Amino acid sequence: MRQHHIVLLPGDGIGPEITAVTKSLLEAISKKHGFELFFDEHLIGGAAINATNSPLPESTLEACKKSDAVLLAAIGDPKFDQNPREKKPETGLLQLRAGLELFANLRPVQIRPALIDSSSLKSEVIEGVDLMVVRELTGGIYFGDPKGRIKTNEGERAFNTMSYSQKEIDRIAEVAFDIAKSRRKKLCSVDKANVLDVSQLWRERIESLSTNYEDIDVSHLYVDNAAMQLIKDPRQFDVLLTSNLFGDILSDEAAMLSGSIGMLPSASLGSNGPGLFEPVHGSAPDLAGLDQANPMAMILSAAMMLRIALKESKAADGLERAVDNVLAAGLRTNDLKQKGTTQLGCMDMGNALLKEI
Ligand code: IPM
Ligand code: MG
Repeated sequence: MRQHHIVLLPGDGIGPEITAVTKSLLEAISKKHGFELFFDEHLIGGAAINATNSPLPESTLEACKKSDAVLLAAIGDPKFDQNPREKKPETGLLQLRAGLELFANLRPVQIRPALIDSSSLKSEVIEGVDLMVVRELTGGIYFGDPKGRIKTNEGERAFNTMSYSQKEIDRIAEVAFDIAKSRRKKLCSVDKANVLDVSQLWRERIESLSTNYEDIDVSHLYVDNAAMQLIKDPRQFDVLLTSNLFGDILSDEAAMLSGSIGMLPSASLGSNGPGLFEPVHGSAPDLAGLDQANPMAMILSAAMMLRIALKESKAADGLERAVDNVLAAGLRTNDLKQKGTTQLGCMDMGNALLKEI
């Protein structure tokens, strides 16, 4: 029987609740499709700081490196807001991305038919939207040096550096070009080349690489305009290529097209080695323990894991179909509630999804 080893990282806030639901669905779908999943649970984020004083214990990173894929729920806890940077939950996630060299973050945005009226945008604007944000994930201002805080005569000064090497730009661009090739063959690269040197290099590299991909229709947008176009006419986009910071911002914006950030999955991939699959949303500390969270972004992330990392595409289809079926039946978590729909908690939503498998 085919066997896959998964490291599960429940993390913080609603993380453990949506992990429990996702794990039971993965167990059911693997039985149905004749393969075996082994789960190994580890600490990350605030939960890891509480237990080990580090947001990414060495044992977690080592286990992830040895796995076939890593499935993460969410990290973040306001309790650590005042901590120094190295003792914040977010640092654990950044260290994990860097430690596994996951430079390519894929964030697909599709409108699930049943949710067309859940978006804050008009249905005629979002109907048929199907785009992929390809976000650079291990460089840019998130990781650039120098960074820090210094005391000056006029008080404190703080700084970060937005920096990209040609090599870093090329490798994420190649991922985006290849994805565009398998889709509608349109690539829009996002930058701020009218102001930033780093963006000028970024744009030059995309232009230069585009000669290797003559079938791809390449365009460039400044990030401010891209933010506007995303809500004005999102159907114009196929693949959106962004740096780390711009992708962070634009992918939250793009999430709202789909009705709720609770619906958006992601995959983070390197050149080789295991990928990391996680919902785009955070740990929603205000919902933690209330059984109100939407588990679907994590379930859709698990589907991406099945398809991309484990090559179990039938099982991936099965999870996605289950999500569409419960939505079509009018079942909703709190974030998606609408007139005429039935509201369920996280666990009941999990049970409804299990029935579809
Ligand atoms: C995301 C998140 C993270 C990021 C945080 C939690 C560090 O917002 O994955 O989009 O900024 O990358
Ligand atoms: Mg973000």
